[in-house]
Amino acid sequence: MKILLCFGTRPEAIKMAPLYHEFKKSNFEVKICVTAQHREMMDQVLDFFEIVPDYDLDLMQDNQSLNELSGRIIQKVDVVLSNEIFDWVLVHGDTSTSSMVALAAFHRGIKVGHVEAGLRTYNKQAPFPEEINRQITSRIADIHFTPTKQATQNLLKEGISPETILEAGNTVIDALLWTCNKIAKPSFLHPEIEILKSTIPTDKKIVLVTGHRRESFGEGFQNLCEALLKVSERDDVAIIYPVHLNPNIKDVVYKLLSNQKNIYLLAPLSYPAFVWLMQHSFLIVSDSGGIQEEAPSLGKPVLVTRTVSERLEGVEAGFSTLVGNDATKIIDAIQDILGNFTGFENPMNPYGNGDASKRIVDYLLKQN
Ligand code: UD1
Ligand code: UDP
Repeated sequence: MKILLCFGTRPEAIKMAPLYHEFKKSNFEVKICVTAQHREMMDQVLDFFEIVPDYDLDLMQDNQSLNELSGRIIQKVDVVLSNEIFDWVLVHGDTSTSSMVALAAFHRGIKVGHVEAGLRTYNKQAPFPEEINRQITSRIADIHFTPTKQATQNLLKEGISPETILEAGNTVIDALLWTCNKIAKPSFLHPEIEILKSTIPTDKKIVLVTGHRRESFGEGFQNLCEALLKVSERDDVAIIYPVHLNPNIKDVVYKLLSNQKNIYLLAPLSYPAFVWLMQHSFLIVSDSGGIQEEAPSLGKPVLVTRTVSERLEGVEAGFSTLVGNDATKIIDAIQDILGNFTGFENPMNPYGNGDASKRIVDYLLKQN
């Protein structure tokens, strides 16, 4: 059987990397097509996981609109799908790449597998446009690899046949555990980690920040920056913020937070450096999906700067808290954790245990 893995952004690359390496160990013929919806941020991941794409559509443009991007994805991926015969195309999650590639594969009569399927808020404005991307891909997919029980339940409620669902866990945990293992080796030397070690104060509590959601552009990001400025007045805290390259975020964050005491603005970090930084953080403030999934394995609390989430498992298990976009609420929640958090007892990650990729490959082998 011949499989095409297709993805285009940083988180998709991280979550598809362990799956690719698992396919390489099997009898499948596997190829990779990247849309490069992200360029630098995805290339960092490909480098670390030693992945050389068979096809690179090189689609990123500065401040691309969703419609321009979506149109170009369908057009360009069609050339790949007409060039070779694939039995399956696997897409991931909720990006424009995943829904548009799924649609293009469907138009060509190729079976689609959806990795990280079934996440829902049922609010089409949040996350925007990801909620609808996921729903589109669920309508098209022939197999759905869900990360959690809740995700499986969502699909069953939508009438998707149980025979087409495999509850595999989330492949991000495979990537994370592999990376933790790698960076723990004394022989592993990484320039970015060395720079972090020499830059970041060791006597302060690290508050690690990320953010990129479209529904928070404008006021949401301004409020976050206002909250971080207030927290940075504490001298026992270092706020480390690797800023997303989207200009709608980068421009605001650098304008409001550059050259402020106790705040370190960084370019996006390579995956091993970011994992190292998570390990050394006291608290994470983020709207990222992947980080909410990773943090429980590292025993780190996450304040989620969103009002709704398709990842409530971590909230219910007490690892993450939805704090929304109000500056006062964010400040209070950060101060509370800085003052009172003493660690999680027996952290069990609700998103997986590191064997998701193997389970997905074994399942597809049985479809042969
Ligand atoms: C995208 C996904 C989102 C995912 C997020 C992960 C869509 C619609 N959005 O959001 O679901 O959670 O990635 O980070 O699929 N840019 C660069 N270099 C890069 C990456 C981005 O310069 O390596 C800039 C470009 O100006 C680009 C802009 O960021 O046009 C937006 O990128 P895009 O992929 O459209 O949206 P994201 O906000 O990154
Ligand atoms: N990440 C990274 N470098 C960074 C910030 C995040 O490698 O500077 C990783 C993080 O560990 C997680 C993923 O990128 O695995 C999350 O990506 P993002 O927040 O962009 O997207 P989302 O997960 O929200 O779709």
